[in-house]
Amino acid sequence: MQTLHSLDPLRRAVAGLRESGKIALVPTMGALHEGHLTLVREARKRADHVVVSIFVNPLQFGANEDLDKYPRQLERDSALLAAEGVALLWAPTVEAMYPQGFASNISVSGVSDGLCGASRPGHFDGVATVVCKLFNQVLPDVALFGEKDWQQLAVIRRMTRDLDLTRPHVDAVLGVATVREEDGLAKSSRNAYLSQEQRAQAVTLPTAMKAAIAAIESGEPVAAALAGLDSALLDGGFSSVDYAELRDADALTLLEKRGEAPMRLLVAARIGTTRLIDNMPVAPK
Ligand code: PAF
Repeated sequence: MQTLHSLDPLRRAVAGLRESGKIALVPTMGALHEGHLTLVREARKRADHVVVSIFVNPLQFGANEDLDKYPRQLERDSALLAAEGVALLWAPTVEAMYPQGFASNISVSGVSDGLCGASRPGHFDGVATVVCKLFNQVLPDVALFGEKDWQQLAVIRRMTRDLDLTRPHVDAVLGVATVREEDGLAKSSRNAYLSQEQRAQAVTLPTAMKAAIAAIESGEPVAAALAGLDSALLDGGFSSVDYAELRDADALTLLEKRGEAPMRLLVAARIGTTRLIDNMPVAPK
């Protein structure tokens, strides 16, 4: 596996790879876990060469979010990726990604509003800007993202469509299903912050979401099902619920009734100081 930190060698290397087949890109910020490795394994099935980027993107961190404390483990991550058969690790420096004078910003309205966008102003602008740059740098045939960050995936799909990005084309931006623990809790690096008691309580999140979905699908009013979900989370040990909403799966418009197009139930809730997010599909009428 080749590791590159600056743009010119990266462009030469991806041009070389493209001569012998399709390229899949898996964008990450490092500190890799099983969820990322699942994306890499899916990427290997869909292309001849896998490029993984590791870049802790300063643009997507708010003033109150500690960019400096974000884990950086390039050596460990690099060994994990080499073992998965990754062809190229693109680990740009901040200067390579945002050279002196960098002044552009991609802002995707609508899908970025509300949900996690409400508590992290500017976050999705930072995500869209760096992902657009990564697409232009690597020109992948396909790019893979985890469905766990559903709003991020919706923002990237909207941007790809709006800006006529052809590599990858919008249909080649693939969401990969959330990897879950045996009890159903979505895998996340944040689960490590939970005490044993909190970890046991955290299972209420997927369980209560499934119950709310069953209620909506059986015709219960959406508001009542979501109120039941809120109560179940608070009774189950969560300290607060940031949001629990039914939204159109693609445009992310808020839905008060079960609709006829694909929908998603999206939830963010806190146990102590740890904020967990999850989302699940809701069957259309
Ligand atoms: O999901 C992430 O790890 C990041 O938001 C991404 C997509 C790599 C952009 O920095």
